[in-house]
Amino acid sequence: MNPLRDPRDRRLPRVPDPCVLVVFGVTGDLARKKLIPAVYDLANRGLLPPGFVLLGFARRDWGDGDFETVAKEAARKGARTEFRDDVWQRLAEAIRFLPGAFDDDAAFDKLAETLREVDASHGTLGNAAFYLSIPPAAFPVVLQQMERTGMADNARSGGWRRVVVEKPFGHDLGSAQELNQMVDKVFGAQDVFRIDHYLGKETVQNLLALRFANTLFEPIWNAHHIDSVQITMAEDVGIESRAGFYEETGAARDVLQNHLLQLMALTAMEEPSSFDAEALRTEKRKVLGAIRPPKDLARYTVRGQYDQGWLAGQRVSGYRSEKDVAADSRTETYAAVRLEVETRRWAGVPFYLRTGKRLPRRVTEIAVLFRKAPHLPFSKTDTEELGSNQLVVRVQPDEGMTLRFGSKVPGSAMEVRDVAMDFLYGEAFTESSPEAYERLLLDVLLGDASLFPHNQEVEDSWRVIDPIEQFWAEGGEPELYRAGEWGPAAADEMLAGDGRAWRRP
Ligand SMILES: NC(=O)c1ccc[n+]([C@@H]2O[C@H](COP(=O)([O-])OP(=O)(O)OC[C@H]3O[C@@H](n4cnc5c(N)ncnc54)[C@H](OP(=O)(O)O)[C@@H]3O)[C@@H](O)[C@H]2O)c1
Repeated sequence: MNPLRDPRDRRLPRVPDPCVLVVFGVTGDLARKKLIPAVYDLANRGLLPPGFVLLGFARRDWGDGDFETVAKEAARKGARTEFRDDVWQRLAEAIRFLPGAFDDDAAFDKLAETLREVDASHGTLGNAAFYLSIPPAAFPVVLQQMERTGMADNARSGGWRRVVVEKPFGHDLGSAQELNQMVDKVFGAQDVFRIDHYLGKETVQNLLALRFANTLFEPIWNAHHIDSVQITMAEDVGIESRAGFYEETGAARDVLQNHLLQLMALTAMEEPSSFDAEALRTEKRKVLGAIRPPKDLARYTVRGQYDQGWLAGQRVSGYRSEKDVAADSRTETYAAVRLEVETRRWAGVPFYLRTGKRLPRRVTEIAVLFRKAPHLPFSKTDTEELGSNQLVVRVQPDEGMTLRFGSKVPGSAMEVRDVAMDFLYGEAFTESSPEAYERLLLDVLLGDASLFPHNQEVEDSWRVIDPIEQFWAEGGEPELYRAGEWGPAAADEMLAGDGRAWRRP
């Protein structure tokens, strides 16, 4: 090792070892919209190794050429960076396709043989990452096939073998534990990468920079100064064509259990000793392990379902009228909860989490609301327009940060009103942010697990969600809210009962 080079120095672009990326379910929605474009973007940025092979596996009767045509179209449509024919040509030379169903032993034997061939033809040194972009029900059979053929075995391959597991990681604690055991039986713990694509977002990583690279925020990042935290992920879209998935899942399992609890963990965690996967995950786990489901579930959990309404000038139908949704469906499309972190730093600070579909606009943000000044030496009328100080991290869109504070209104009176100071990624930097999948795929190939939740984090998150789901399952119907509005009235009442109100993002 070069003694002058700090191994933690990440300014220089890191290029992975020569390797194969095997995508199971390569004809699916995720592969077309996200994975293939991300592979192209990495190639375009020069971040793929010279010996790189993309191997698609699915049950179409395609040859390499057919797959290449489809992949090219997907890259052209979905890539973040400019589409360049010369980049594609180089990538296309390293694209392979293998037809087969997951229960087809011969197809997996052929895959194992192809991996050996590719080692010889492209110098991939036995290195391979397997991306499970497949329905969760197919995880067991694919894992069994990989175990049977020895494909997951680092020692046998002579290189590294890694697996990428897409969410959902189970549908409750029991099924998550089963899945974790299944994956851990086939792959070593350090070779398992669970994707929560929110962690690949630049703004989410910036939360760590904001908190731990500055001196400004950390001294006030605690219950003495913070009144409450609101974490919102709102979507204006409905369920699109994913009724089958959504009917089984609902908003809490789809978003709260993973994305929102991960954002909460990053907001609340202590400073890690380094940004190694181990150190980061340890701190996140401590927070997730200290979150308790609300004691009063009736008061501090809300679920809703969108009814017909208007969005962006268009009439949209209610959830129960969507294609393939049961007319009496009780699936929630909106979920809000109040959680607390039982630590000295956060004692008594409520974290309000909410997510919903068919809300007025697509926005994800973390809003930290500070306590009001204990004494205001102004007349009451002068501060009528003064709210609480807020730090808002905008995860998407308009990535950036806003600081809201009171300022004197020009004039002879001492009138104070809220103003905002904005930091916008798009304005502060000339470089555009990589897509989350681009960043995460690269990290998988580099073997850097910092941005991937550990299985204990997944299980701790289910420990928070399971009692809520159970309570809802025993209760009545979700409350309807009109599409295009900010969720059911009960969500407003939940905060009003605490003397607070939701921010309007
Ligand atoms: N789509 C998203 O935006 C998104 C977001 C987050 C997480 N995810 C997760 O990512 C995974 C993939 O999602 P997706 O939306 O891409 O699903 P999808 O569109 O249904 O694609 C599933 C893929 O698996 C293949 N497949 C299914 N059963 C098979 C079998 N028995 N043998 C061989 N191939 C089989 C399908 O091949 P055929 O084409 O031959 O059916 C298809 O290529 C899921 O775990 C999902 O929860 C997806």
